Amino acid sequence: PRRVAVLISGRGSNMVSLIEAASAPDFPAEIALVLSNRPDAAGLERARQAGIATAIIDHKDHPTREDFEQAMDAVLTEHGIEFICLAGFMRVLTDWFVERWAGRMINIHPSLLPLFRGVHTHRRALEEGVLIHGCTVHFVVPELDAGPIIAQAAVPVIPGDTEESLAARILVQEHSLYPQALRMISDGSARLENGRVVFSESWNSEGAL
Ligand code: GAR
Repeated sequence: PRRVAVLISGRGSNMVSLIEAASAPDFPAEIALVLSNRPDAAGLERARQAGIATAIIDHKDHPTREDFEQAMDAVLTEHGIEFICLAGFMRVLTDWFVERWAGRMINIHPSLLPLFRGVHTHRRALEEGVLIHGCTVHFVVPELDAGPIIAQAAVPVIPGDTEESLAARILVQEHSLYPQALRMISDGSARLENGRVVFSESWNSEGAL
């Protein structure tokens, strides 16, 4: 299986869904590391409970973004990481780091991209009055939340929705979408080629469709 690092900054519910999916024997990836930029991220404890190696690289301990990312990159290399899943990781990454992991780093974003890049997606969706909202998994490119799309799930906006109720409805979808997308990049059925996602049938271990 492909060695995957999940990068978090907080609660880590998407991280848990990836760990659970990857624990199935036929899953083409294993979560080899959970890395947090915040020492107090609740997800760290959940990762430890699941028996996953954890690392903390506190951005506040590093004078520059480059320095912070060099430290992350060193830990990722140390653990033999092949793919990165950003899961509620709330640091903007430099072009250097993004290019280094091009085609090997994905992110989940709580909107139907290209709508509502950035933060407060649910509040903005309610303000705009959209009736369909959702979540997206995409390859990470230097421009924020602008990368080629691997998978999306749509969710209805219901009268009376609040930011919280809408976020909760979408989070349920995130938890099944993200493992699906990780499976696709890990078994090669979704690849980044010349800035676009190429989809192909996945091959099982017997080499048959
Ligand atoms: C998730 O809803 C994720 O889509 C979002 O943060 C939440 C993290 O929750 N990500 C972003 O907003 C990225 N800009 P989790 O820590 O429970 O997975």
